Amino acid sequence: SQVQDVQADKVKLAKNLAFVFDIDGVLVHGDRLIPEGKQVLDMLNGNNQLGIKIPHIFLTNGSGKPELARTEQLSKILQNPVNTEQFIQSHTPMRALAEYYSTVLVVGGEGYRCREVAEQYGFKDIIVPNDIVAWDESIAPYRVFTDEERASARPRDFSKVNIDAIMVFSDSRDYATDMQIIMDLLVSENGRLGTVAKDPVSQRIPIYFSQGDFLCPTEHPHPRMSQGAFRIGLEAMYKAHTGVDLERVVYGKPELATYKYADEVIASWMDVLHGEERIPENIYMIGDNPASDIVGGNMYGWNTCLVRTGVFQGGENDEENPANFGVFTNVWEAVTAACRKQL
Ligand code: G3P
Ligand code: MG
Repeated sequence: SQVQDVQADKVKLAKNLAFVFDIDGVLVHGDRLIPEGKQVLDMLNGNNQLGIKIPHIFLTNGSGKPELARTEQLSKILQNPVNTEQFIQSHTPMRALAEYYSTVLVVGGEGYRCREVAEQYGFKDIIVPNDIVAWDESIAPYRVFTDEERASARPRDFSKVNIDAIMVFSDSRDYATDMQIIMDLLVSENGRLGTVAKDPVSQRIPIYFSQGDFLCPTEHPHPRMSQGAFRIGLEAMYKAHTGVDLERVVYGKPELATYKYADEVIASWMDVLHGEERIPENIYMIGDNPASDIVGGNMYGWNTCLVRTGVFQGGENDEENPANFGVFTNVWEAVTAACRKQL
């Protein structure tokens, strides 16, 4: 019948559609649910007129926890399943680096959680700043090292270890200690603490950052400095100390590598949901931060929707990085507008 034909057409169109969600400021605020976030996921997970699942992935600059721990936490808050196969944190694409570097310094995050993340990514020999402080406390003169931290540290004679690369995974909890150790390594001979390179460029080990956000909204009335601020500080120190620019690689939104990785994740999630491993023609990115979500999505040719539940507090659209599909009160308004257009 005609009704069935219309339905079949809509199902076909729905299979050519996918959503990419930013998390903080779109679906949740920290651990607090944004109610329209749950409403949207209920709908995309099948509670809609077509009764089908519409593919969506999560692309966050958040970091500091293993993917499974974070998706379990999000599933509870959003009261909808969030699978690790549809989930990208800032450091998730950095798992590919495990193939190239064996001994790495992993920086940032709470306690020793980023060691766990790096282990899951397959890095063989993981060192965190606390391991180095536990070996030689004089390396960080202002550090107060607790007994608890010492108990979980893994000190060894680091004057005999070559560190292959530095991976900043998450926000530093102690800028003074982390910056000192990173600088020591960047000016060392091939990543060996206690040495000073004759040639600061050819003997310098590479450094990677999981994301570049300068500011991050928190409970504080004004956004707080984030990993981008830490990196800019390090770059300035390095330049002042050596006279040369620090070459570095940054992941996360709005970096291209992260969007390419997102495409792979969308394609394989399409396979899980619809049995076809391909990238749908119509992709909608929903974000609250023009400087990461929107600029990145625009550059990558996605449809972009800016919501008013997070970082963006401006007028009609962002002036520097306007969302190409529009600005919406919340994620529900954005997703339903996209569905009306596509279906
Ligand atoms: O700035 C780090 C993080 O809080 C941003 O998360 O989900 O908005 O990319 P998200
Ligand atoms: Mg956000």
